[in-house]
Amino acid sequence: MAKTISCGGLNMPTVGLGTWEARDDSEIETALNAALELGYRHIDTAAAYGNEHVIGKVLKKWFDSGKLSRDDLFIVTKLPAPGIHPDRVEKYLTKSLADLQLDYLDLYLIHFPVGIKEGEGPPQFEKEEHKALWQNMEKQVDAGRTKTIGLSNFNVKQIDKFLKFARIKPACNQIELHVFLQQPELVQFCQKNNIVVTAYSPLGNPGYNTFLKRIGVEERTDLVNVLTNPIITEIAKKHNRSNAQVALRFLIQKNTVVIPKSVNPARIKSNFELYDFSLDDADMKKIETLDIGEAARIVDWRVYPKIDEQPEYPFAKK
Ligand code: A2P
Repeated sequence: MAKTISCGGLNMPTVGLGTWEARDDSEIETALNAALELGYRHIDTAAAYGNEHVIGKVLKKWFDSGKLSRDDLFIVTKLPAPGIHPDRVEKYLTKSLADLQLDYLDLYLIHFPVGIKEGEGPPQFEKEEHKALWQNMEKQVDAGRTKTIGLSNFNVKQIDKFLKFARIKPACNQIELHVFLQQPELVQFCQKNNIVVTAYSPLGNPGYNTFLKRIGVEERTDLVNVLTNPIITEIAKKHNRSNAQVALRFLIQKNTVVIPKSVNPARIKSNFELYDFSLDDADMKKIETLDIGEAARIVDWRVYPKIDEQPEYPFAKK
């Protein structure tokens, strides 16, 4: 079993199954069944991933079989870009619950600080209304649709603003985090304010070019690689572990939560075996030197053209 960390007063398992770009129904089914058999109890998804309905079907089977009950699990999903408007929170959350076949979520996140208008065609951006948006997120907790609420992809300045007006403080900020993009200031700021940091793409997303290819965007040649990095390889050899396990263990020792995505049962298993070894101070220091900051950011939201021109775009402009 993964250890847990307090997230808005709930016990959140520190290792969860990531599901972004898990697209094939039978692949998701196999992956989720394997993960639940192995002891994963934290599942991360998003309306934008288009797989909530498949996850919902698998979960229902587990509940019906009596092997698991709802309160054994920590389920996280996210308000998608067209829902990021004060008037549309409830509609999108209700849809996610229906697809997941659940009565409540453990954690509901605003997927990104910038919302878009509903409808087809090139994205039209919404005017930022974070305070009213958050008040509607809070109402979802009051209504029992989610136990707690949080953010994803928000920066220090934005979170600071939320802390000033929030009645229910954000319990989590889910951000891209891996050995090459360590974001120490953002992590420390969140942790100082009791906001759990969840690391997405904790392995540096080795499958990112496959995603770009699928959406018809030119593949990138500048991507960092955890799996072949010589320093990670050296530390992995020393502990008789895989590079992936070392990269994940590093994040856990920084008190962050990891959600490695995999649809491969063998990798799902090894990504979960993080608590029977530890990195020493020298290992941690060596890995800290791998941080190259923004240049290592992989997940690029500019697949929404001009998103980086919006006032609430959270990242440094490249
Ligand atoms: P797959 O689903 O075929 O296992 P991240 O979580 O950083 O975004 O990384 C996800 C990508 O890394 C996916 O392409 C996934 O492929 C691959 N992956 C997941 N776990 C491992 C592992 N232990 N070793 C190598 N690749 C992995």
